[in-house]
Amino acid sequence: MTRPSSVTAIYPGSFDPVTLGHEDIARRTLRVVDRVVVGVAETATQAKQPTFELEDRLAMLKEVFRDEPRIECVAFSGLLVEFARERGASVVVRGLRAVSDFEYEFQMAQMNRELHPDLEFIFLTPDVQMAFLSASLVKEVSRLGGNVSRFVSPPVMRRLHARFEEER
Ligand code: PNS
Repeated sequence: MTRPSSVTAIYPGSFDPVTLGHEDIARRTLRVVDRVVVGVAETATQAKQPTFELEDRLAMLKEVFRDEPRIECVAFSGLLVEFARERGASVVVRGLRAVSDFEYEFQMAQMNRELHPDLEFIFLTPDVQMAFLSASLVKEVSRLGGNVSRFVSPPVMRRLHARFEEER
């Protein structure tokens, strides 16, 4: 097994929307690889009706990572392993917050390995301050009028406000 001279990792997810926990994982990944492609998936494994359209999720990702040239944000449809092949990535990174995340991540990693045996999966833990954070909880708090400024970047907060204003 050889190691490519420049390692690209895919960081896939729904990012509905991107939280400071996701940002933390993507930036940490740059400590171990050369480039990160944040892949916002059109098709999520756990069937969920997204709150934000794919283009909006991508736009938020691009805004929060605009300061980091080694992070590129791209939308993808279809299989993650095909997306990884197209981008020449040898690694997929996912965040692990707690034991409760493990089973879902383990199943996906094993299935993906069946589909693409050369791809490696690495799991990073977020800063302890973000260990409880989830996009779903952030949305619920924001929808009910709570302050989420400690959990998401300003561009995301603006979009959350705008999104839930529409519902009121
Ligand atoms: O943030 P999420 O919703 O937990 O991310 C899940 C995601 C997007 C990583 C997963 O659903 C995925 O890889 N989707 C792409 C379609 C695919 O390859 N499915 C088979 C996974 S084994």
